This record gives sequence, structure tokens and C-alpha cells, in this order.
Amino acid sequence: MKKLGIYVHIPFCRQKCSYCDFYSVNWNNESENKYTEAVLNEIKGYRDRLSGKYTVDTIFFGGGTPTIIRPESLYKIMEGLKELIEVNKNSEISMEANPNTLTFEKLREYREIGINRLSIGVQSLNDDILIRIGRIHDSRQALESIDRAKSAGFNNINADVMFNIPGQEVRDIEDTISRLIERDIEHISFYSLKLEKGTPMYALEKSNKIIMPDEEYEREMYYAGRSLMERNDLPQYEISNFSKKGFQCRHNLKYWSQDEYIGLGPSAHSFMEGVRYSNPADLKMYCGAGFERTIHESMSHEDLMFEYIMLSLRLAEGVDIHEFNSRFSADFINKYEGQITHLGKNNLIELSEGHIRLTEKGMDISNYVFEKFME
Ligand SMILES: C[S@@+](CC[C@H](N)C(=O)[O-])C[C@H]1O[C@@H](n2cnc3c(N)ncnc32)[C@H](O)[C@@H]1O
Ligand code: SF4
Repeated sequence: MKKLGIYVHIPFCRQKCSYCDFYSVNWNNESENKYTEAVLNEIKGYRDRLSGKYTVDTIFFGGGTPTIIRPESLYKIMEGLKELIEVNKNSEISMEANPNTLTFEKLREYREIGINRLSIGVQSLNDDILIRIGRIHDSRQALESIDRAKSAGFNNINADVMFNIPGQEVRDIEDTISRLIERDIEHISFYSLKLEKGTPMYALEKSNKIIMPDEEYEREMYYAGRSLMERNDLPQYEISNFSKKGFQCRHNLKYWSQDEYIGLGPSAHSFMEGVRYSNPADLKMYCGAGFERTIHESMSHEDLMFEYIMLSLRLAEGVDIHEFNSRFSADFINKYEGQITHLGKNNLIELSEGHIRLTEKGMDISNYVFEKFME
């Protein structure tokens, strides 16, 4: 049977952060109940497509802020999934969490439900920065939530950290990451702040009320964070992700390996049988009768090959040439001979041990490298 990942989008936040454009609305009890019912219905709708063909080995509760809803709602969703499809015993079951919402009791309940990986939105341990980006917690709460998660039995914890924030300095990054390393964290996702249209921060930048760091300084922050993590047993395994050995996020690895997953909940994306599709980013519509999905791409063989290269190059291990050839019945070296020669000469990719990888220089201009493979 084939392996499947499941993403569940929980579309509630206590307060919207000023940079974020992930789909979420304010939480209330009634919305949570309607939402939970709608997810259970969506699960049932997959019965014919999944039964007897797949088992699940990763589940990811993302958001929004999954830790806002009652553990019993999460329990219902987990039970609904288990009724639909076999969930392997050693599955990775992750949940995103906001430090402001994590009590010890909740954390214990999450463990009982089967959640075994927690991804905490720390962002920064500089309190001025946290206020500036509209976070609802301070650095003390962020660190306490890590300690609390550990004492509740979590031994696989990620912290999301952002750089490229206006006014942020290299030493803020180093301070934040050092304190997380002192906490013996297993994984850090290290994201460069991107201003998304429609967010308050985007409007502030457009009206010159805030100034984004220039490109050079953005890279300096990235290099400083990366080098600190690499020196402290958190090697990079993807452009934005660093982990102790054996603690890479198995669910996210599915995205970069072009493996199949379904997304449940409003705005969730899926990739199944070569087709990418998504649910409406609208809770009312999602909870109404018979919402429609948007099919993004029914992908051709050529599209799938290009996408596979683009996704794999994000990974430190790069494109596994043998895997590529057997997946697509192709000859990678022959097909991309021109690109490999050109990019290799310019020190943007390297070929070793049957893999093509981005060099450090290649990582900085990865879009250029990806475009070359499209030619
Ligand atoms: C969907 S959020 C969920 C985390 C959780 N709700 C929290 O904020 O505590 C996942 C992560 O995406 C990152 N993120 C969100 N918007 C971003 C942006 N515009 N640029 C870069 N990273 C962003 C943040 O680090 C955030 O923790
Ligand atoms: S970063 Fe997290 S808490 Fe903030 S708005 Fe986005 S999903 Fe909600």
C-alpha cells in the first residue's frame, strides 16, 4: 500500500500577526464546532479514493493556531481519520502551537491523542521585535512553553524563527538561536520574513513607515543563523530547516520529495495522483454544503519532472539521480547535460555520490538555478 501524509488546517488565531497571510479567522466556540463537523465530513468524502490503497505515516495539524481549539475536537478529528484509514504505529504527528496558548494540561492531552512533535512559533526572543510584529507572547512565555512541552513528554520540538525583520540585527538572530540551542531544541525552521500583500506590515512598508533590511543584510542574517546552527549539531537539511540527526520533519519532507498528501480544512492544499488541488480559503464556504475544490494543475510528465528537481534542490541532499531516473523512466544526466555543465562551471551546483546539490552560492540565487532547468 502507498504511504500518505495528511495536513489538517485549523483556521483560527487569537490575534492576527502583522506579517502573516495564512488563512485564519477569530476563534469562537460555535465556529470550532461547525469546523470540526465539516472536517469529519470531508474525511468521510475521501473513503472511496483512499480505502485499501493507502496507509498514513505523517499527520500535520497546521494553521492558524491549532492549539486554540479544544483537545477533544482534535481527538474527534484523529478518531475520524483512524476510521477512514490505517494510521501507522510509528507515524509522525505534528502540531503547530503559539506559546500564548500552551498550558501543561493541554500539552498532556495532546500527547494522549498521539501528537508526538510540536512546532512552536517563537519567531524571536527579542521582546521589542515581538511587539513590533504583533505577537501575543513575549520571549519568557516562548521559552517557558518549550520547557513545559518537554515536561509534558515532548521530545521532538521545533521552533519557528524569523529573520529579515525591520530593525532586527545579526546579534538578535544569534541571541535567539543560542538560547534555543541552550534549550536543546531538536529542530529550527529559519524563515526570511516576506511581506505579503494585504498584511498590515506590507502596507507600512509601502507607505515608508518601516524599511526592510537590504538584500545584503538579509543574507548576513541568514549566514549568521545558519553557521551558528551548523556549529551546534543542527545541520541544515533544507533551505529553511535545520535539525538534530534523525529529527527532520518527515511530513514536510513529503512536500519536497513530491510524495502524496491530502489537505483537510479551509485553504488546505493536496497532491494526489499527479494533481494539485486546494480547498476554498473561506470557513463559511468550507462548512457549507458541498464546497468546490480548485484544481491547480493536472501536471504533465514534463511538469512533474521539473517540479521534482525544483523541490529536491531545496534539500541539502539534492536530487537523487537514481530515484529521479526510476520515478520518471528518464536519464537525468543526459536530459540536463547542458544545464549541469553551465551551472557546474559557475559553481552553482555540484555533482557527487549520485546527487546534484546546490552550492552555497547556488542557494543564494536558487531561482536562477530552477529557471535553468526549465529551459
Ligand atoms: C502558519 S504559522 C503557524 C505558527 C503559529 N500559528 C504561531 O504563529 O505561533 C507558521 C510559521 O510561518 C512563519 N511565517 C508566517 N508568515 C510569514 C511571512 N510572511 N514570512 C516568513 N515567515 C512567515 C512563522 O514563522 C510562523 O511561525
Ligand atoms: S503567524 Fe501564526 S498566530 Fe500569527 S497570524 Fe499567522 S498563523 Fe496566526
